[in-house]
Amino acid sequence: MKPFRFLLLLPILGLFHTARGQAAVQLTVGPPDPTRVISKNIYGQFAEHLGRCIYDGFWVSDSMQVPKKDRIRLDVVEALKKINIPLLRWPGGCFADTYHWSDGIGPRGQRPTRINTTWGMVKEDNSFGTHEFLELCSLLHCEPYIAGNVGSGTPEEMANWIEYLNFSGQSTLADARRKNGRDQPWKVSYWGVGNESWGCGGEMTPEFYSDQYKRYASFCKDFPGAPLKKIASGSNGEDYNWTEVCMKNIPTHQMWGISMHYYTVVGTWQSKGSATAFNEKEYFTGLKKCLHIEDLIRKHSAIMDHYDPAKKVALVVDEWGIWTDVEPGTNPAFLYQQNSLRDALIAASTLNIFNNHADRVKMANLAQTVNVLQSLILTNKEKMLLTPTYYVFDLFKVHQDAAWLPVQFSGPSYTLGNDSIQAINVSASKDRNGLVHMTIVNLHPRKKIPVNASLPGFAWKKAGAIVLSSGKFTDINSFEEPDKIKPAVFNDYSRKGQDILINMPPMSVLQISFQ
Ligand code: AHR
Repeated sequence: MKPFRFLLLLPILGLFHTARGQAAVQLTVGPPDPTRVISKNIYGQFAEHLGRCIYDGFWVSDSMQVPKKDRIRLDVVEALKKINIPLLRWPGGCFADTYHWSDGIGPRGQRPTRINTTWGMVKEDNSFGTHEFLELCSLLHCEPYIAGNVGSGTPEEMANWIEYLNFSGQSTLADARRKNGRDQPWKVSYWGVGNESWGCGGEMTPEFYSDQYKRYASFCKDFPGAPLKKIASGSNGEDYNWTEVCMKNIPTHQMWGISMHYYTVVGTWQSKGSATAFNEKEYFTGLKKCLHIEDLIRKHSAIMDHYDPAKKVALVVDEWGIWTDVEPGTNPAFLYQQNSLRDALIAASTLNIFNNHADRVKMANLAQTVNVLQSLILTNKEKMLLTPTYYVFDLFKVHQDAAWLPVQFSGPSYTLGNDSIQAINVSASKDRNGLVHMTIVNLHPRKKIPVNASLPGFAWKKAGAIVLSSGKFTDINSFEEPDKIKPAVFNDYSRKGQDILINMPPMSVLQISFQ
């Protein structure tokens, strides 16, 4: 099966021709590799105490006229349940390394007021803490992923939090949890040891951090029935040395995963570019920078392969997405941005890349779920809308925990000026019921691209497809027009024996399923 092990970009071999004579991209879906499953946790989310993500996003005031459980906004919860979000990372981000968990337990009126020194110096009243977060996860039917404080906390503080969360017996901390309303331990499993320890998490060197990791991780105990999956704070994009040093210094049995953060920034960190007003050059640059994540995954994985050839340690992309300038008139520290068709294409292409590297990428968390960066949901008082990125996660949920299928194809390019990117990207899987699903993306802003898909060895009877697209790459869902971009049934395909010819519209994400 060697030729099927990776998504291969072959030279222009076997191009099909459509009735009108346009060459079709030949795409061949290979047999499953039983060792590769696309972890559902690739579809994880991230929610930080930042701007209006937690406060005024998930957690609203008593007076807000929306369905609520306690102060958790249930219309938001219901929307997220529909796309099966598997995992939610909290409380940060940079906020995690300033957070002291004991501030967020006990009667709300007695919790201390702090300042969110990372995100706008705003008041943090700690009304949303451990119990509230875990209640949110339970309503979402998703697993919690907690990032512990290494930067300004202590190993003792981290150890105590874990005991409070996970110990079923009697101890002062477990009894305090009971007094605060929770009898059984939550058995939190995914545990981040710090966040961006090279930056906001303490400006550490990888040598210093890897020593700190071992120190903290030694006191993160597995309580009975509650083993931890510890995740080291990993690199900033291209910082391969960080991965190298951590993999060398931290024994693989001491970490379940190591993270990597990568944001698509069209301009510079000082001037990132507008979320809604951009030209084709910026569109192209955004896509090109998003596709760069595949190089990063390949290079970090190669380093990890050296120290962990059995691929036991996961590469956890626990922050990713497009980061633009904030919407005009909003607090710059709140990172509130709109979400366009371009961003949906970025999300879909990134998820295809993660799926195709599922042997190493076993978890990822989009930044961030509600009202911050590349959100799934935006809210405005009682109103809420689903972004184009939300619909991508809806189309891609079929891949969760499905067997990865390799895809061979030779793709056409999208060229702008002297620069080119691959116009088509794709991933495929076979689910537990034997259905084969493919998600195909056409990044070209003008060209319809015919794709001929062959599924040798899979005798399919029926196909069905859904598409997400719109007329302009700058199109958005706004509070005035919340349904401008949403999935639609797609019929522009035809069967040819066991093959299928799909006419991929420009700027589209397609989910096609075969049974
Ligand atoms: O997601 C916003 C911020 O980006 C996070 O707090 C931090 O980890 C990263 O730099």
